Amino acid sequence: MIKVSNLEKSFVQVNQTIEVLKGVNLTVEEGEFVAIMGPSGSGKSTLLQLLGGLDTPSKGEVEINDNRLSHLTERERTILRRKNIGFIFQNYQLLPTLTVEENISFPLHADGIKSTNNKLKVQNLIKEVGLEGMEKKFPNLLSGGQQQRVSVARALVNDPKILLADEPTGNLDRKRAEELLDLLSLFNKEKNQTIIMVTHDIFAAGYSDRIVLFKDGLIEKEVKKEDIGYAEYVASFLA
Ligand SMILES: Nc1ncnc2c1ncn2[C@@H]1O[C@H](COP(=O)(O)OP(=O)(O)O)[C@@H](O)[C@H]1O
Ligand SMILES: [Mg+2]
Repeated sequence: MIKVSNLEKSFVQVNQTIEVLKGVNLTVEEGEFVAIMGPSGSGKSTLLQLLGGLDTPSKGEVEINDNRLSHLTERERTILRRKNIGFIFQNYQLLPTLTVEENISFPLHADGIKSTNNKLKVQNLIKEVGLEGMEKKFPNLLSGGQQQRVSVARALVNDPKILLADEPTGNLDRKRAEELLDLLSLFNKEKNQTIIMVTHDIFAAGYSDRIVLFKDGLIEKEVKKEDIGYAEYVASFLA
């Protein structure tokens, strides 16, 4: 479903080039739940942006369902993304002039928003992420955790086949984090949704099938839960 080959990304700044990704190889199967961990600045968010076609690599290739992103036009990439990918951004990226409900409905576009089915779906998602009563509020009136939950509901509203989540529990307390991870697990299991989640939280990573550990722009190590069992799985990343 997702294949990354020899992926490199550099950013050119005033007087230096920073190599952020240095040749990443990763394959993710349909229905897999993968957690990406690693120190701050190791390139996790950059990788997620490239996977979602929101930025272009310096070298290497990202394939989504056998489509090489580099062979698509900007417009084709946008369509592929809209149809297949839900994105939970690290900094939420809510639209400040839209209410909670409107932000969540945004990916449905004008026609989709009117359908009764979709209105129900939005109401359900609002319940599932615990934002009932907040429907008409604007993002600037919400806490960080509430904004994060709006961005989660928005990412799920289209039933995307692939969910890319950048620290989706970063601003939630343990109870809220657990509720959110249960929701993601449900989407993963019932809809066979593929999830790639960047996280610092070993508790969150415990929900995944595979943990990929990033260091200095490269994959340092990968562990599958089925190979070693949950306790050892989690313990292997606490060192
Ligand atoms: N658009 C950009 N322009 C310049 N440097 C960037 C840009 N995006 C990320 N970086 C740099 O790339 C490195 C990796 O960033 P990032 O992918 O956000 O790491 P992580 O998510 O693992 O914390 C950092 O040093 C960051 O400053
Ligand atoms: Mg990041």
